[in-house]
Amino acid sequence: MKRLVTGVCVAMTAVALLFGSPAAQAKDLSGQLEIFSWWAGDEGPALQALIDLYTKQNPGVEVVNATVTGGSGVNAKAVLKTRMLGGEPPDSFQVHAGQELIGTWVKADRMEDLTFLFKEQGWMDVFPEGLVKNIGTDTGIWSVPVNIHRSNVVWYVPANLEKWGIKVPTTWDEFFAAAEILKAKNVVPLVLAQNWTANHLWESVALASLGADNWDALWAGKLAFDSPEGVKAWELFGKVLEYTNKDASSLSWQQATDMVVDGRAAFNVMGDWAAGYMATTKKLKPGSGFGWSASFGTGGQFMFLADSFGLPKGAPNRDNVIAWLSTLGSKEGSDAFNPLKGSISARTDSDLSKYNEYAKSASADFGKDRIVGSLAHGVTANEGFMNDFASVMEMFLKSRNAEATAKAAQQVAMKNGIGK
Ligand code: GAL
Repeated sequence: MKRLVTGVCVAMTAVALLFGSPAAQAKDLSGQLEIFSWWAGDEGPALQALIDLYTKQNPGVEVVNATVTGGSGVNAKAVLKTRMLGGEPPDSFQVHAGQELIGTWVKADRMEDLTFLFKEQGWMDVFPEGLVKNIGTDTGIWSVPVNIHRSNVVWYVPANLEKWGIKVPTTWDEFFAAAEILKAKNVVPLVLAQNWTANHLWESVALASLGADNWDALWAGKLAFDSPEGVKAWELFGKVLEYTNKDASSLSWQQATDMVVDGRAAFNVMGDWAAGYMATTKKLKPGSGFGWSASFGTGGQFMFLADSFGLPKGAPNRDNVIAWLSTLGSKEGSDAFNPLKGSISARTDSDLSKYNEYAKSASADFGKDRIVGSLAHGVTANEGFMNDFASVMEMFLKSRNAEATAKAAQQVAMKNGIGK
C-alpha cells in the first residue's frame, strides 16, 4: 500500500512539474510530519513561524513538533541517538552543519542525499560555497541549512556599564581590569550557566588565545591540543573562570542572560540566539536594551555555526519531509524564521529590511570577517569528540590544571580521528 501511495505521489509530482503547478501538489500532501529539535519554550517562536508557513502551504499535513528541552541540544541529542540507533528516526531533525552531521550521521550512513532537492530549488546558487562544504561530501549533500548563528559574541546592557563606569573591553586583559571594578560593586563580571556553556565560553577564549590560523590548525590535526599554544588557551580560560558565578551549573543559558538583563551580571559570552531571546521574548531593543560586541580578543573573527535539517533514511513521511525542507530552505521560510531567532539567513539573497539592528551588524560582519567553525555547536568535531570533550571540561572545571587537561584533550582528539 505504502509503495502504491508513493507511486501515485511520484506520478502526481511528474504531472505537477509538467503543468507547472507545484501548489496543487503541495495541497495533496497528507498525514504527519514529525520535526525533532531542542527549540522548546523560549527557543520556540522562530520554529513556530516556520511551521505556520509550512502548514499554510501544506494544510493536509499535521505537524508534530517534537522538542526535547535543553540548550545546545544536550538532552535532545541523546534521545535522537537512541531513536536513530533503534530504527525509529523522526521525519526530520535539527543537526548542526559540519562534523556533527558529516562525522556522525552521514558517516553512519543514516541520511539521504539531498543533491536532487538542491538542484531542483536552485540552492547551489543561493547558499554560500563554504557552507555547502559543511553539509556536503564527495558523495552528496546531506541537510538544508536554516540559519547562520555567531558563537563569539559578548552581551551587556549599555546603561548598566555606564552606571558602573565600565567601557566594553576589547581584550581579555581589559576585561580583567574591568572585572576587578565590577567585583568590588558585587556585580558578577561574566555569567556562566550549565556545563555546555563552559564549552561555549572555552571556544571563544581559545580563539582569542590561539588566533584563527591556530584554531583551524587544531581541527586539521596540525597543531596538538597539548602544544604550548594549546596549554596557554587553558591557562587563559582558567583565569577567566575566576570571574564567573559559583552557581553556574544550576542555570540555563536563558537564566544567565536574565542576570545580565537584570543587572546582576555585566557580561555573558553566548551565541546570538541570546539576541533572539532578548529581542523576541524579552522585547528589548537591540542597541539600547542590550548591546553586543565580538567576544574579547576575537574582533574581526566570526565563529559560525548553522542549524540544519535533513532527511534520515527510513523517515516515515518522506514526501512531507521534502516539502518541509523546501519551505525551510526557501527565501520566504528563511526570512520568517531568522528575524525571530537572532540568526541571519544562510541564503545570500535574504531581505535584510526584515531584520533588526543586531542581525544587520552580524550580516555585515559575516561578509567581511575571518570565518571559523564552532566546536560547541557541531562544526569542527563529531559527536564522539564532543562527548569525550565534555569529560575533559569537567576535569578542568574541578582541577584547573591546564597542562593535564590539554594532554587529555589531545588524547580525545586522537581517539576521535581529528585531522584524519
Ligand atoms: C545551539 C543551536 C541554536 C540554539 C542554541 C541554544 O546549538 O544551534 O540554534 O538553539 O543551541 O540552545
